[in-house]
Amino acid sequence: MSLPGPKAHIVRLVAVLVGALFAFLVIKEVVTPSSWNYKDWYRGDALALNSSYEAAYGGNQSCVTCHEEVNQELAEFRHQALSCESCHGALADHVKEGEKIGDAVVDDASSWQCLNCHDAQVSKPANFPQFDKEKIEEHQEIEPDMICTACHTPHDPTP
Ligand code: HEC
Ligand code: HEC
Ligand code: HEC
Ligand code: HEC
Repeated sequence: MSLPGPKAHIVRLVAVLVGALFAFLVIKEVVTPSSWNYKDWYRGDALALNSSYEAAYGGNQSCVTCHEEVNQELAEFRHQALSCESCHGALADHVKEGEKIGDAVVDDASSWQCLNCHDAQVSKPANFPQFDKEKIEEHQEIEPDMICTACHTPHDPTP
């Protein structure tokens, strides 16, 4: 296209922009899911899809029916805020329809499961019990190279 006159480049630029806008609107219309919720900005069908998945985690209340004692023990001490499943794995791997179907995870051989939360890091609140260099030295004076659960009970870690 060649237009005469000093404003030809502006006409071409406007034509390109209008073309791009048109292409954008067409593509947007085609690829937007039909259930799109413009008010809260999410795909409406996603709700049904997510609720169709089977729950893997039951929460601490789901353990109480069969493990009342442990639940009471945990509730009294400073690990009360923890989820059983953060240490023992998902309920769905252990119980199905009220019957035990598989062993829950019991890690009685590594310190990693404790250091996962207690490893010292500057980003943690100062009053959180952290296993920093000083504490490691104190602990080694008691007994070097022992795993955490040799001295701390996981459900009641009170030293
Ligand atoms: C901080 C990690 C942690 C949390 C949180 C935790 N446990 Fe445990 N649990 C362990 C470890 C480690 C053992 C193995 C203890 C051992 O061998 O000395 C264990 C053992 C058990 C056992 C085997 C029997 C026993 O008492 O030794 C059961 C049952 C159990 N836990 C249930 C639970 C339930 C229910 C909860 C939540 C109310 C829970 N646990 C929370 C780490 C945890
Ligand atoms: C329907 C009953 C039932 C529920 C609910 C249940 N358990 Fe168990 N659990 C058992 C039975 C039965 C055993 C084996 C006997 C025992 O140690 O008491 C067991 C054993 C365990 C053990 C020891 C390791 C093993 O597999 O033998 C742990 C740890 C455990 N359960 C954790 C949990 C956690 C955490 C929850 C909640 C997310 C939970 N359980 C929910 C019935 C249940
Ligand atoms: C999922 C995170 C998490 C894991 C895993 C965890 N802890 Fe804790 N621990 C906590 C929290 C949260 C507290 C309470 C902090 C508070 O009260 O400010 C705590 C408190 C403690 C305390 C202080 C108790 C007191 O009475 O002074 C000790 C000791 C401790 N944990 C040891 C352990 C040991 C040993 C393990 C491994 C078996 C472990 N923790 C695993 C989160 C965790
Ligand atoms: C040999 C026994 C022993 C072992 C092993 C051990 N602890 Fe301790 N822990 C103690 C004693 C005793 C205390 C209380 C004295 C102190 O504060 O230093 C304590 C205190 C703590 C505290 C401070 C609690 C608070 O309220 O400030 C934390 C956190 C802790 N231990 C975490 C761990 C972790 C994580 C491991 C594994 C890497 C571990 N401990 C291994 C005996 C032990």
